[in-house]
Amino acid sequence: MTDKIRVCVIGAGPSGCCSLRQLTAECDKFEAIAYERNLVPGGIWAYTDRTGTDETGLPVHSAMYNNLKINIPKEIQEFPGFPYPKEWKKSYITRQQCLQYINDFIDHFNIRKNIKTHTYVRDVSPIEIPGSKKVKWNVVISDTRKLDEVKTEIFDSVFVCIGHDWNEYIPNIPGMEDFKGKIMHSRNYRHAELFEGLDVAILGVHFTGEDVSMQIAKHARKVYACHDRTDFPPSFPKHIEQHPSFMRMTKNGVVFPDGTEVKVDVVLFCTGYRYSYPFLKNDIIQINDERITPIYKHMIHIKYPSLIFFNIPRQLTYFPHFNEMAKFAVRIIDGRAKLPTEDEMLKDSEDDYQSRLKDGMKPRYAHYMGLNNLQWHFNTDIAKMGNFPPLPPVLRKLWDDALDERQMNITHSNEFNYEIMGEDSYKILNPEGSKSRVSLATA
Ligand SMILES: Cc1cc2nc3c(=O)[nH]c(=O)nc-3n(C[C@H](O)[C@H](O)[C@H](O)COP(=O)(O)OP(=O)(O)OC[C@H]3O[C@@H](n4cnc5c(N)ncnc54)[C@H](O)[C@@H]3O)c2cc1C
Ligand SMILES: NC(=O)c1ccc[n+]([C@@H]2O[C@H](COP(=O)([O-])OP(=O)(O)OC[C@H]3O[C@@H](n4cnc5c(N)ncnc54)[C@H](OP(=O)(O)O)[C@@H]3O)[C@@H](O)[C@H]2O)c1
Repeated sequence: MTDKIRVCVIGAGPSGCCSLRQLTAECDKFEAIAYERNLVPGGIWAYTDRTGTDETGLPVHSAMYNNLKINIPKEIQEFPGFPYPKEWKKSYITRQQCLQYINDFIDHFNIRKNIKTHTYVRDVSPIEIPGSKKVKWNVVISDTRKLDEVKTEIFDSVFVCIGHDWNEYIPNIPGMEDFKGKIMHSRNYRHAELFEGLDVAILGVHFTGEDVSMQIAKHARKVYACHDRTDFPPSFPKHIEQHPSFMRMTKNGVVFPDGTEVKVDVVLFCTGYRYSYPFLKNDIIQINDERITPIYKHMIHIKYPSLIFFNIPRQLTYFPHFNEMAKFAVRIIDGRAKLPTEDEMLKDSEDDYQSRLKDGMKPRYAHYMGLNNLQWHFNTDIAKMGNFPPLPPVLRKLWDDALDERQMNITHSNEFNYEIMGEDSYKILNPEGSKSRVSLATA
């Protein structure tokens, strides 16, 4: 028996690895293991050509596609205190480099020994302790090579690090069942070359839809990018036809709201992902139009504060935030950070939601952080409660500027390289690629 706090981390992607880094840094206090269903750690960044099911029969986790570069400069996609190799001058690195960086992180912090791969978490349930408000956690796992066998382990705390970009959302479009062409979701997109000579309608054009439609347009005969966004990048290439979202499909194609029908070979849904926790029963959390309750600060289960989620906030600079979330989480479970009462936490969560609605955000954006500086407020809040410094302001500056740059110059903004100069400033290393040449770059 050990009197250390036993923590089960579910998933060894970037958030699981940040959790292990913080937990193992205080190994006198914590005993940590990450269960990872894949053969290797890395999460989504562990690319595979496979789609559908993997070699164990489970759905493939990674929605990463072959020709992918990160979509924010690496200088703001860095785990704090662990810089990228100096010789990597480019800011927008490839998916392969990102995976290497995660593996370097794992080795640098010596946490590979804490990762149990081939291990699928099937069920997580609280065990009430008579006379105590605290619970322990019953975690049921299987070796993915022997899925019919299960094993149970008991933990003091569970960190849910399963990501949120794997449970694809496909809207129900009338006429879909009659369509004779190919229907797919971007989670199964890997290679643009497969669209050679085809006519393709893409529904939902955000980060994935923007990138994938530009990739596919190099091969397809025609790409229709269909969306309802009011903030669409004006710099989006003109040869990709934009349309409002189609509401109907037919045997041969899609029908736009003005009644025009176009024939297409493929309908590709880039409509994003939905939260899902297959190992948690419905009485633990509820998900209502993408709002997860009862959760405090988008992380902490209000009834069971030893159950901590890393995959709830969306659209933020994930890597630095994961590290800070992990710092906060370890301080919650060992009691260094004090939580308000249950009622106060419920009120805080409701106030946060209502203030989003008041600001005009859609109800399903309950955990979006990409607007109104929400990610930085989130960070300040948890840093204050955890009594550690918040992320430096330069991250916000570079996030704002890089996203502006992308908006104005979507086809070339990832050619710009940056260097962080200090807590508050950065510089562009190749200023000839700055905003002043936007019109040239997008022509
Ligand atoms: C196509 C695409 C491109 C992206 N590009 C960027 C980018 O450029 N920059 C950026 O910051 N973010 C990007 N993202 C977002 C991405 O989600 C994050 O970068 C990051 O990978 C999230 O880390 P995570 O650890 O929370 O989740 P994940 O990376 O999804 O890792 C979760 C891990 O949990 C494991 N797991 C899941 N369920 C179980 C279970 N039941 N039992 C055991 N293990 C389990 C999975 O196998 C996986 O290894 C992209 C996402 C997609 C889909
Ligand atoms: N490195 C890269 O280049 C890269 C590439 C791809 C993805 N990513 C990352 O992957 C993550 C997921 O991005 P994503 O673009 O797949 O998902 P996303 O950001 O959730 O975008 C999905 C889009 O589909 C729209 N949509 C949903 N249902 C629709 C419907 N019925 N009709 C029309 N539009 C609909 C959504 O609109 P609403 O907003 O109104 O819901 C949204 O604009 C992000 O973190 C992103 O940064 C990175």
